[in-house]
Amino acid sequence: MNPTVQELVAALTLEEKAGLCSGADFWHTKAVERLGIPAIKVSDGPHGLRTQREGSTDPNDSIEAVCFPAGCAAAASFDPALTRRMGAALGREARANGVQILLGPAVNIKRSPLCGRNFEYYSEDPYLAGELAAGFINGVQSEGVGTSIKHFAANDQETRRLSVNSRVDERTLQEIYLPAFETAVKKARPWTVMCSYNRLNGAYASENKPLLTDILRGAWGFDGFVMSDWGAVNDRVKGIAAGLELEMPGSQGVNDRRLIDAVRSGALDEAVLDRAVTRILNIVLLAADLAQRPAAFDRAAHHRLAAELAAQSGVLLRNLGALPLHRGQKVVYIGAYADQPRYQGGGSSHVNTTAVSALDAALLHDRMVQYVEGFPADRDQRDETEFLRAVTAAEAADVAVIFAGLPDSFESEGGDRRHMRLPDCQNNLIARVAAVQKNTVVVLHTGAPVECPWADDVSSVLCMYLAGEGVGEAEDALLWGDADPCGRLPETWPLRLEDTPCYLDFPGDGVTADYREGVYVGYRWYDARRMPVRWPFGHGLSYTGYVTATPC
Ligand code: BGC
Repeated sequence: MNPTVQELVAALTLEEKAGLCSGADFWHTKAVERLGIPAIKVSDGPHGLRTQREGSTDPNDSIEAVCFPAGCAAAASFDPALTRRMGAALGREARANGVQILLGPAVNIKRSPLCGRNFEYYSEDPYLAGELAAGFINGVQSEGVGTSIKHFAANDQETRRLSVNSRVDERTLQEIYLPAFETAVKKARPWTVMCSYNRLNGAYASENKPLLTDILRGAWGFDGFVMSDWGAVNDRVKGIAAGLELEMPGSQGVNDRRLIDAVRSGALDEAVLDRAVTRILNIVLLAADLAQRPAAFDRAAHHRLAAELAAQSGVLLRNLGALPLHRGQKVVYIGAYADQPRYQGGGSSHVNTTAVSALDAALLHDRMVQYVEGFPADRDQRDETEFLRAVTAAEAADVAVIFAGLPDSFESEGGDRRHMRLPDCQNNLIARVAAVQKNTVVVLHTGAPVECPWADDVSSVLCMYLAGEGVGEAEDALLWGDADPCGRLPETWPLRLEDTPCYLDFPGDGVTADYREGVYVGYRWYDARRMPVRWPFGHGLSYTGYVTATPC
């Protein structure tokens, strides 16, 4: 008979217990071999597996894995069954690669379109974000792999993310920033929750008792363990008392020693440490047990799934008739993203893979398409020859499809955008092409809304967000009418940055982010103020036509 968790806790020394409350390295918990306690492995992330190659010493040296649509795109499906399927696939990949906890989903609310991590997050709407997260968690965990819903809580900007104090009133917290976590905890029971770096109303999330204990466990009944975001621990002793069980990735023993000293000096009740170890071991033993099951996944099938989900996430924002494209038409693809699509964001969610481009997919389907680069993928730089080549080709074609988007450097973990515009070289080219070609289509590759000053001058706009490695196949199917666009906007696309609810307060003064707009986040703001927007929350067209029935 294996010992119970209670028996193990009783058999552990104080040093071993403190050690179990922090990671052994970047991605593993600690083992205690003499008692048969195994280590478990955690890895990113929310739309693809980013797990360190065995034997490598570089935490960023990841194995190749499938990149599914990022949160921004998956949310446009409005479909928890879709995030569930994606979660199940990720669970299979995680288990086949020896990972026991996947670090996702990421459910922070899109307070400002400028937040550099919006591409990982689902929505400005807590109900939608919560339902999608529950689907995702249920999917991953159905495969015997745990999740870590993140970043708890009110982590809605990247500027000074390690220390900024999010000042949020109680009603706004309860109605906007907490419910996605609450729904997911209650409906899907994630094995773990990841607390965020920032402070919330003065206290670091990693030592915030109202958040980690009173609300999460007391009010919602969370029964897993809380881990810190990577390096988010401020005061370890305060943290464990507040409800932070596991520090990741660890502090080379410094904080373990602080816990031991605190118990010895009487500053920390050993029962608090025992409780934390119990919660961690409950999950570690479950994870290790489930990891025994045979594991395998089919890479090609997961790629097909990624492409299918991407097609279900595309949002047709405008269509005066240029779409769908038809065989026999003279079609020109313009813009480097036709060849090198932007399909994921930078930072901890970055997956090591290669994507199929729209040009690759066109070739596969034998489509007659001309290609002109027009502008580069990675910077805002106008090349006069390319610019003119694109305009001339557009004029001579029946339809011009411009593949636009944000370069990687515009939008990534660790920094917020400074404005909401596409690179000028792209905006200028779109405007010029639209002036000579009435059938101009713009395909957008962005993780968040951008200003679209040319929106009324083009025939069609298809938003792919960051759609994962199947982006090209999905675009091909949607552009050529093999699939009907069925995505809907999971967030408002404002006309201008100045219209956004927290324009005056984002990202704050470097110390505090004041959530002065209160509950008026996203559509709640635009509706209450009766403001015009570019495209509202929930907007999305299809190719279907409706005939009004006349009464007989
Ligand atoms: C990110 C987390 C991520 C962790 C591990 C942190 O910087 O905020 O989302 O899971 O790193 O890579």
